[in-house]
Amino acid sequence: MSEPRKSIHGQWSSRWAFILAATGSAVGLGNIWKFPYITGENGGGAFVLVYLVCIAIVGIPIMMAEIMLGRRGRQNPINTMGALAREAGQSQLWRLLGWSGVIAGFLILSYYSVIAGWALAYVFRAASGVFIGGTAEGVGKLFSDLTGDPERLLAWHTIFMIMTMIVVARGVRGGLEKAVRFLMPALFVLLLILVGYAMTTDAFAQGMNFLFKPDFSKISGNSILIAMGHAFFTLSLGMGAIMIYGSYVPRDTSIAKTTFLIAGADTLVALLAGMAIFPIVFANGLEPGAGPGLIFKTLPLAFGYMKGGIVIGVLFFILLVFAAWSSSISLIEPAVTWLVENHGMTRMRACAWSGIVTWLMGLGTIFSFNYWSEVKLWGKTFFDLLDYLTANIMLPLGGLFIALFSAWAMSRVASADELNIRNEWGYALWRFLVRFVTPLAVIIVFLNAIGVMK
Ligand code: PHE
Repeated sequence: MSEPRKSIHGQWSSRWAFILAATGSAVGLGNIWKFPYITGENGGGAFVLVYLVCIAIVGIPIMMAEIMLGRRGRQNPINTMGALAREAGQSQLWRLLGWSGVIAGFLILSYYSVIAGWALAYVFRAASGVFIGGTAEGVGKLFSDLTGDPERLLAWHTIFMIMTMIVVARGVRGGLEKAVRFLMPALFVLLLILVGYAMTTDAFAQGMNFLFKPDFSKISGNSILIAMGHAFFTLSLGMGAIMIYGSYVPRDTSIAKTTFLIAGADTLVALLAGMAIFPIVFANGLEPGAGPGLIFKTLPLAFGYMKGGIVIGVLFFILLVFAAWSSSISLIEPAVTWLVENHGMTRMRACAWSGIVTWLMGLGTIFSFNYWSEVKLWGKTFFDLLDYLTANIMLPLGGLFIALFSAWAMSRVASADELNIRNEWGYALWRFLVRFVTPLAVIIVFLNAIGVMK
């Protein structure tokens, strides 16, 4: 066994600190905002099924691989890949994998922060009582008024970026992951309340059918790619966030067990969000494929009619902001650690620079919803393109190379030592998945989406 490295940024105080932080990273806008709207756009049940299969055979094995690489490398993803490649006698080109992660994190945060800004805006809207007795039309107009106003979007985006950079500047292992301990269960309870409300609408069965009854005629190569991309996005995989969190994990933590916990919690939150939202969609005659505004056009209707709707609405959006916050810090952490480790910057300076660049890039997303809403490339706005490029291309590619590295480039001895799975069969299954199944799945889905496999 080689001498275990230590991260210069220290370690998690315990196994639980890691689980909380990684769950904080995984559970975010991806589960509550993105999962329902892409499910709606891609026809429901069959899409959900493909997504669940991707979580099981691609997401979970890659999460284990990514934590393993991080813990063995103990540096930012670029240096970690460099160090591990050297250890395995491989080319330094593997550092590119780290690079693509750092860049993907930047790009994702630039739009993630704009959407988190919508959630922030909705905390105050919910508090003001404007949702009470609202109609689908009225609530829809409230949403388009917000996205149509670049100044307001910019203000909320700015506030959210400042919130993110303050936490990152203090070091990720500061306070936020402790807060996750209370906030995640609270979010869970609120989602249950919303599902309870959805049950009282007369479209609950219709909503459940939409979510869970697969109709494969509604699915295309492109929607399979979107489902797979989302499995990466929702578990924060393929860009080094989980790798960097893994670099602070103590040696005696079981990677397999923690991965199951994180992936399980993440999937449950997404499914609950879907169960809360689709009955409301159908009960109000809304379009499941309404796009990125879906939760903002549906949940306010529930808050407007249920008892205690103002309090529940305010709490819900506050928790959504926290969920986004604990994800956003992990999106920028790889870039910040890279600036600190390779460019000798202080953490403060590294945060200021990366925050400013991300904030500026966010303008593109803001304008996609107003000034540039008609500017399209391949039928997509700037925001759509950014989302497609990162979630559906960069993350799965990152994941593919993580799988290839851990199962082909790295020695069996090294991965067995680092994963330390007690059960022989468990390890063999993991290795089989990352060696063959995951890479093939990603490649087939890519080829299928570009229409090579008709
Ligand atoms: N997993 C987060 C979510 O679901 C988003 C994310 C992606 C965070 C990639 C970090 C890295 O909202």
